Amino acid sequence: MHKPSEHILIIFGASGDLTRRKLIPALTELQKLDLLPEKFAVLGIGRTDYDDASYRRMISKYLEDPGEMLSMLHYLSMDPEDKDSYVRLSDRLTEMTAVRQMVPNFIFYLATPPGLYATVPAYLSKAGLTREQDGIWRRIIVEKPFGTDYLSARDLNISLLGYLQEHQIYRIDHYLGKETVQNVLVTRFSNGIFEPLWNRNFVHHVEITSSESLGVGSRGGYYDHSGALRDMLQNHLLQLVGLVAMEPPTVISSDAIRNETLKVFQSLRPITGEDIKNHVIRGQYMASHVRGEAMPGYREEDGVPLDSRTETFVAMKLFIDNWRWGSVPFYIRTGKRLPTRVSEIVVHFNPSPHTLFCERETGAGKGNQLVIRIQPDEGILLKFGMKVQGAGFKVQDVNMDFHYEDLTNSYIPEAYQRLLLDCMQGDSTLYTRDDAVEAAWRFVDPILRAWEADPNVPLHGYPCGTWGPEVADQMIEGETYTWRYPCKNLADDGLYCEL
Ligand SMILES: NC(=O)c1ccc[n+]([C@@H]2O[C@H](COP(=O)([O-])OP(=O)(O)OC[C@H]3O[C@@H](n4cnc5c(N)ncnc54)[C@H](OP(=O)(O)O)[C@@H]3O)[C@@H](O)[C@H]2O)c1
Repeated sequence: MHKPSEHILIIFGASGDLTRRKLIPALTELQKLDLLPEKFAVLGIGRTDYDDASYRRMISKYLEDPGEMLSMLHYLSMDPEDKDSYVRLSDRLTEMTAVRQMVPNFIFYLATPPGLYATVPAYLSKAGLTREQDGIWRRIIVEKPFGTDYLSARDLNISLLGYLQEHQIYRIDHYLGKETVQNVLVTRFSNGIFEPLWNRNFVHHVEITSSESLGVGSRGGYYDHSGALRDMLQNHLLQLVGLVAMEPPTVISSDAIRNETLKVFQSLRPITGEDIKNHVIRGQYMASHVRGEAMPGYREEDGVPLDSRTETFVAMKLFIDNWRWGSVPFYIRTGKRLPTRVSEIVVHFNPSPHTLFCERETGAGKGNQLVIRIQPDEGILLKFGMKVQGAGFKVQDVNMDFHYEDLTNSYIPEAYQRLLLDCMQGDSTLYTRDDAVEAAWRFVDPILRAWEADPNVPLHGYPCGTWGPEVADQMIEGETYTWRYPCKNLADDGLYCEL
């Protein structure tokens, strides 16, 4: 890995949670790994009244071992909505680059509330801070959420592209920064054994789960305007679908890979009309006891209205209408207050065409499964049938199991570490492109509209500590298959119902 060229990283929203918990710790790791350029500094921006010293003191409380990081941190107190303050920002950057005798390359990180994602680049542009010339580069990282529906995402793209070129814009989907997510591409395209089977002729269905055991906590006010479909499915889960389903890229380059995931999003069969009720299940967690501990329902959380109809769970059956995946169902689900925190992809292969061994142990005989575990306990598991020892020909499912932690060098970098480094190096492969973001929104938009407009689309309650509404189970059950449950329901009580 080579070090990026010299630059200053300017973080808007530097007094906030994301900066403290993710961005500065990721930079600290990069510094310890000696992956930051010799000439490098961070300039935090916020309305809160810090100076360099007090900002460093505040940040130091969040770093176990800051190393050299603190001395690289600077702060400018300004309101990002005040156009005139950008002259002060420009002056400060001129001063910082002059002191360090460095080229004025800048990354602007938008870690503010999303309402500012269009404003800040406009003011930066007016202050002349986004212009690239004479080899100097200027980049902007935009946090999630990127829009709240198709039109707002498109408007934000139009707005950003009014001030910057696409190659300067880095839209974060932190799932793509995860080592195990990137490994989906390596698993598929560097092994001769999987790819020939990776299509409608051999794959029965694909399942993707991303569950959280926590509730909304203190983020109820924000979450209630978002919900699981916007917060998780439109971005993270669809990105995983894109990587599992894409065609091999011509080369490993940013545009080649993003062209292929875009094609997947463009091939998603629209879910509209009556299909919304049958193919998309939404749920909301209800109070229950989990291992004896009382858990509040979503509507009892701080900042959540008592009559909220925001979904904390969504399960979807979708199809990709192309040559590779025609008629193969993809089942995807995500939710809060589920029994455990796990993200995994399960590829279910077709069972053998003829049942030769009639007696099978429970659970065997549904076909081989390849489980790609994104988090935690990162790894890959292949399930296959094996003879039960002894007389006869009974078959049992056994596991071929790989865990990252078994590697001698099992260090897995944090997603933000990788993503920040990539942006510093000008590599946007793991960032989402304007057309892909819009295609993903275009797919979920009819569902959002139907949920808003049609009170007959049910919202199902599920007790905390269960795998979501029972109807979501029925989405797969009824045939031979069920969702894969990484652990059992943990709720001691509580009934499923319609809210
Ligand atoms: N936190 C996470 O784990 C996480 C994860 C993924 C994505 N994100 C996204 O990243 C962004 C930042 O998240 P966060 O959790 O750090 O948010 P946050 O703590 O609420 O806000 C970040 C900072 O933005 C500034 N700010 C707030 N309201 C503002 C306003 N009206 N005008 C100007 N500045 C304002 C505040 O600093 P001053 O008051 O000092 O100006 C605040 O410290 C959000 O868009 C969020 O969706 C966060």
